[in-house]
Amino acid sequence: MYYNSIIETIGNTPLVKLNKVTKGIKGTILAKVEYFNPGNSVKDRMAIKMIEDAEKEGKIKPGGTIIEGTSGNTGMGLALAAISKGYKCIFTMSDKQSQEKINILRAVGAEVIVCPTNVAPEDPRSYYSVAKRLSQEIPNSIYPNQYDNLSNTAAHYETTGPEIWEQTEGKVTYYACGVGTGGTMCGAAKYLKEQNPAVKTVGIDTYGSVFKKYKETGIFDDNEIFPYMTEGIGEDILPKNVDFSLIDTFIKVTDKDAAVMTRRLAREEGLFVGWSCGSAVFGALEYAREHMTEEDVMVIILPDHGTRYLNKIYNDTWMKDHGFLESRDFATAKDIIQSKNGSDRLLTIEKKLKISEAVRILNKEGISQIPVTDGEQIVGSLTDSKVLNHLIDNPEIKDHPVSEIMDPPFKFVGMDNTLDVLSSLIDRENKALLVRDEKNKVHIITQADLLLAMTS
Ligand SMILES: Cc1ncc(COP(=O)(O)O)c(C=O)c1O
Repeated sequence: MYYNSIIETIGNTPLVKLNKVTKGIKGTILAKVEYFNPGNSVKDRMAIKMIEDAEKEGKIKPGGTIIEGTSGNTGMGLALAAISKGYKCIFTMSDKQSQEKINILRAVGAEVIVCPTNVAPEDPRSYYSVAKRLSQEIPNSIYPNQYDNLSNTAAHYETTGPEIWEQTEGKVTYYACGVGTGGTMCGAAKYLKEQNPAVKTVGIDTYGSVFKKYKETGIFDDNEIFPYMTEGIGEDILPKNVDFSLIDTFIKVTDKDAAVMTRRLAREEGLFVGWSCGSAVFGALEYAREHMTEEDVMVIILPDHGTRYLNKIYNDTWMKDHGFLESRDFATAKDIIQSKNGSDRLLTIEKKLKISEAVRILNKEGISQIPVTDGEQIVGSLTDSKVLNHLIDNPEIKDHPVSEIMDPPFKFVGMDNTLDVLSSLIDRENKALLVRDEKNKVHIITQADLLLAMTS
């Protein structure tokens, strides 16, 4: 069995259950993983539909040019359609889009024109205006206009919606999706609500976009508009593909919450997805936490793949520069040591010391555990609760040397081991950890230090 061209592989993407990030939420949360499309995004579905509808209407002839204002994914879909059908592509993009997206479009033969983000849509420099003007100037060209072209919604009504219905065997009760042009949300929402009017839809919006306020008040508020970084969702216009009657609720998600959730999807679910996927999951889960019961099934669209964001949200330096890295997310043994500001003189006791003396030291220093040494070597450890057990069993032992009752040395960990790893190593048996710094100095990390790091 084979496909006649790459565009035949569009659609029929898998539904994958989310297992970790959904902790504490009732019901089943399923992700529709759209990066399985050949262009690695949900946009392949509507790109081919817009071109085939234009052909049917005689709007484009062989050898023609496709011109579009695109945040990248639609461009990729259109480029694949153009390759298989023999058209040229020119795309206009705003300069907030990642360089990877631009490179990818050029790789599949498209011409890309980068336009400024922070100008009004009607400004002649905006990527909407430049695309429109070019389509008027270049003969035998079409401007599919994903925002207002209803073939966009139709593609999702014909493919995404039915797939979700069939894959969940009609059990879907909530459908959540980021809203950009509105096609993915409204096409599938229309289909799903036709099958079962009780299906509720949750649209994910960004801060800086007009959708949520417009839905709730009917007011198009210019004051809601400001630049944001999440790519692909939220708008400063009302595209014709957004049918507000099909979107029951909007939830806004910050750039930071979206970025942090996207990274969690990669690490905890193995879903290496794009930034707006984090928005969709973060917002959908916020809603699910309040509304879902055990019987409910929510489907969340994950629109694209992580490669396009490698130099942004998957880059730790970029994340730190933007204040997006939760300190807790990445706190390491090194951070804990540094937070003690050098006040962590490593106290030790010699193995020959009398147990009663050792207890006095623990008390005086206000500590519960201490490494035991033999000269320069760390040979064991002593913990107050264990000493107490020994003394209860045999009070005479207080005059014996520490070596008689000591436990094995505390485990050594690396400077870059994260809190997660450290906390998995500290337990009833192992009350503390040791770390050797760059200067070979040994530091101790106790249960109390970990607790402090986790709550500060
Ligand atoms: C990455 C990404 N996520 C989400 C969307 C939103 O989908 P739609 O335009 O169908 O509303 C887009 C659209 O450009 C996108 O590129």
